[in-house]
Amino acid sequence: TICDVRNRKDSDSDEDELKYLSIPTKPVTKRRFGPLVVIFVGLPGRGKTVLAHKLERYLTWTNKVAKVFSVSSYRRKHIESYDSHNLFRIDNLEAVEIRQLSIHEAQEDATKWLNSNGEIAIIDGPHTTQAIRQNAYDHFCKESGFQVLFVECICDDEELLENNEKEMLQFSQDYCQMSAEKASIDFHYKIEHYKEQYESMDAKIESDFSFIKVFNGGQNMLVHHLSGPLSREVLHFISCFKPTQKTYYFSRHGESEFNTLGKIGGDTNLSARGRLYAAALARYFNETNIDGLHVWTSEKKRTKQTAQDINAAKEHISALNELDAGVCEELSYEEMQEQYPQEFAWRDQDKLRYRYPWGESYIDIMNRLKPVLTELECENNLLVISHQAVLRCILGYFLNKRLDELPYINVPLHTIIKLTTYGYKYKMEVIKLNVDCVDTYRKQPQNCSVTRMAEDALKTVPAHFDNMNPWIRSGHLIQQH
Ligand code: F6P
Repeated sequence: TICDVRNRKDSDSDEDELKYLSIPTKPVTKRRFGPLVVIFVGLPGRGKTVLAHKLERYLTWTNKVAKVFSVSSYRRKHIESYDSHNLFRIDNLEAVEIRQLSIHEAQEDATKWLNSNGEIAIIDGPHTTQAIRQNAYDHFCKESGFQVLFVECICDDEELLENNEKEMLQFSQDYCQMSAEKASIDFHYKIEHYKEQYESMDAKIESDFSFIKVFNGGQNMLVHHLSGPLSREVLHFISCFKPTQKTYYFSRHGESEFNTLGKIGGDTNLSARGRLYAAALARYFNETNIDGLHVWTSEKKRTKQTAQDINAAKEHISALNELDAGVCEELSYEEMQEQYPQEFAWRDQDKLRYRYPWGESYIDIMNRLKPVLTELECENNLLVISHQAVLRCILGYFLNKRLDELPYINVPLHTIIKLTTYGYKYKMEVIKLNVDCVDTYRKQPQNCSVTRMAEDALKTVPAHFDNMNPWIRSGHLIQQH
């Protein structure tokens, strides 16, 4: 748990111990396992903010307690309406003071937050000089014993710079009241002011610091003095992330034979309506002609059959397989209540963490999805055909959902969900293809007690069999295969 990690005292070298003896009031042990402070470095428009927020999202999804502290939002508390680039001149002493104060406030808040159970504070700001970085290091590391990792974003790729500028002008609060033309000129002056003072990180001068230099959005990277598992996790994510425009498409498989019977898991074929959906999906993608479209499916028959007629390269990935329901595989919710009423109630009490006997929990799926997600961060124009629980986890990541919300995200059958990058967020479009299907969504019931009546446990089970042919209802379709 967080507490275990935070209370841990790791033995440091004698040399390190001696370093801290110079601070008499509070002996500090430099910890390797956290908390960690990630401090961004770089000129404006180098992609720091996008990366900071994506990192926060990834770490949160991997069950870490991470938070971005944006220096510019502290500055905006002192200067409500942004006027011009003059705010960033080094000879504007009043403004320099305000910017220093904003850094200090961000640091103070991050420290308080880390001391009350935060794990990874991400400080988004330019930190352009060695003096500012030394000061931050002293504050976080020497005084509090936190791990510090600097991440410097350097960029000279014209296309990337242009994209970054576009995003900056579109999303920055400073420019929301300015005309596009005025904002662009102002932004260039602002960069010039920062260039006058900018000192890139230097392994000779800042030899004690841990840092990662990220060139052109991850095309090349330089890693200096990295230590500790949290820093390595940050490095892993940064090395996968590509700061380009991305579009993803997600779909569940077409309705399966088990879906029509309200049964979970298994590896059945598509139902007749599921096959219609597969045809409609193929028509949609084949006609839309998406540049470089490729498809990932799970290894289950129903996702492969759904992808079958789409003209695109396909890959089948076991990490995209549906939640393994262990002893409850191939049962309906009604059968689960009948055979394992206690398990059924426990699942309703904490669906995120509940693990089926001999099966998986949502947290287990998230763990096996980690490599898929980091690969997704490098992809574009990708269609993922998977399953209800797995897509909930993936969508929860992109849409920044709280972990406890994930198991209840509604991902209906026969629907395409399209996500497109929008700053560091995603815009979502829902494209419903017009093919009937059952509803598999079961809300959390009000009564989750193990002593509840079956009626209460089954109150939110969707009515699968409405409008369904009695022949299918009786299970014939299954017996045929
Ligand atoms: O019902 C379809 C299905 O994909 C099952 O195979 C799986 O166990 C279930 O959805 C996951 O949804 P929930 O977590 O809501 O039971």
